[in-house]
Amino acid sequence: MLLARHQSLHAKEPLRWLDLMAGCGIRALRWGLEALGNPAVETELWINDGDPDRLPLIQANVQALGCSTRLTADAADMLLHRAIVQRHWFDFIDLDAFGAPGPLIQPALRALRFDGLLFLASTDGRSPTGHDRAGAIRSLGTAARAHPSSWEMALRQLIGLVARQAWMLGRGLQPLFSFSEGRTFRLALRLRHQIPGGDEQKLGMVARCERCGAQRVQPLLKLSGWPVCDCADGQGRWSISGPLWIGPLQETHLLQQLIFDAQELGCQQISPATLRMMHRLQADSGDGPTVWPTDELARRLGIGGPPALGPLVEALQAAGYRASASGIMPGQVRTDAELKQLLQICTSLRGEGI
Ligand SMILES: C[S@@+](CC[C@H](N)C(=O)[O-])C[C@H]1O[C@@H](n2cnc3c(N)ncnc32)[C@H](O)[C@@H]1O
Ligand SMILES: [Zn+2]
Repeated sequence: MLLARHQSLHAKEPLRWLDLMAGCGIRALRWGLEALGNPAVETELWINDGDPDRLPLIQANVQALGCSTRLTADAADMLLHRAIVQRHWFDFIDLDAFGAPGPLIQPALRALRFDGLLFLASTDGRSPTGHDRAGAIRSLGTAARAHPSSWEMALRQLIGLVARQAWMLGRGLQPLFSFSEGRTFRLALRLRHQIPGGDEQKLGMVARCERCGAQRVQPLLKLSGWPVCDCADGQGRWSISGPLWIGPLQETHLLQQLIFDAQELGCQQISPATLRMMHRLQADSGDGPTVWPTDELARRLGIGGPPALGPLVEALQAAGYRASASGIMPGQVRTDAELKQLLQICTSLRGEGI
């Protein structure tokens, strides 16, 4: 809702928004009631759900909206393909499917206007988290291995899939924000007219040593052999996931603006929990996929409690590394320090009684 409102506030041309799998229509209703931030811009709401039994309730709900609405009970792919043929481009598509959205991604991208926004959900957690490896190959085209930052790996595989679909169309893709609570994986993405130079470097592979937990990243563009992990006399084995998105997960400047908008609207409209999540995402751009749970660090050091996240991030930064508390999963640190240095810094913090 905040993202749609942001688009409305900055729009100069009429807007067309599509709630493609609307369910009871709550999102489109909120768009109509709360997101039409610019009265000078005409906005058309298309509201669709494949189940025709939903229509009477949606119809009753949207009657009082002060914008034009178009209600349908079409199969999502039919609606998108018809819109493409009839050149009805959308400025915003909300694609809230059950399961994996794979087959609808390409038509949704094709039905978006340049710079249009796609809000995408997937409830398929098993494939990208390594619990259904054959399923990940089928639905995402990835090798998915168990990883302690499983929600993040799932989001990165999903962004990688959408990016490849956009690139096939000769378009670029910019992740705006990405989050999950472990069951549903949600992405806000912007379709770019052109592929920004060098973006192909943002697709890569992440390797994690099954023995010592060290991690390595390689862009597909420069993929070469994996060095032997130096733990346990070279007995470590890499488990490798990808291809997945290794670029940033969050557009922090936009999130800052949305936080400002949310504060302006107040907690009647934006819940404190949502605001807290936005602050967490804003503080961690997700640039770099190497993330470790502090619990794992404590276990590997054989110490009782995990190191405190805030001081650990500060100590890493003071040592010249990039570091942040992960905005995706609680109790995890993102850093470009190698595991050995990371553990050393944890040990020295412990020596200082932190
Ligand atoms: C996850 S629910 C949507 C929930 C809704 N966005 C909300 O926030 O309340 C998915 C919806 O997609 C609809 N649906 C499932 N398959 C569809 C298809 N192929 N085409 C159109 N709608 C479909 C279902 O009827 C269901 O209401
Ligand atoms: Zn190792």
